[in-house]
Amino acid sequence: MSTSEEVSESGEEEKVVRISMSLPEGLLTSFDNTARRKGYFKRSEAIRDALRNFILESKWSTNENAILTGTISMVYDHEVRSLVDKLTDIQHDSGVLIKASLHLHLDEHNCLEIIAIEGKAKELKSLSESMISKKGVKTLKLTVLHTAST
Ligand code: NI
Repeated sequence: MSTSEEVSESGEEEKVVRISMSLPEGLLTSFDNTARRKGYFKRSEAIRDALRNFILESKWSTNENAILTGTISMVYDHEVRSLVDKLTDIQHDSGVLIKASLHLHLDEHNCLEIIAIEGKAKELKSLSESMISKKGVKTLKLTVLHTAST
């Protein structure tokens, strides 16, 4: 094992360890092809990002109190009776911190809204579930991008 220094996301110098591992050849080829398609030049960069996502995914699904930052993106029909009021009430009552939101009027019926949120995993899940279940909400996607203690 060898070590070196690397600047982490937080700007601090972080010790880097070198590992070696064995993989089925087909899996590696498949990984490399995927990484190339996504625009990675270095395999190690792609592996690092895949590991971070693996850890984030696990925290998100196993620790309901993990503090997460992410977005809810949704398209809804603003002409559906009282939908806008319901969506606003749900957000106010959720306990989730709404950090910012962006609203686009797509056409005469549809609105696209992107909401930046921060809160406990269980609150984010429950917020997005109560919004998607409302009549008039056509698509909704919850994306988790960061956890406080990665
Ligand atoms: Ni609109």
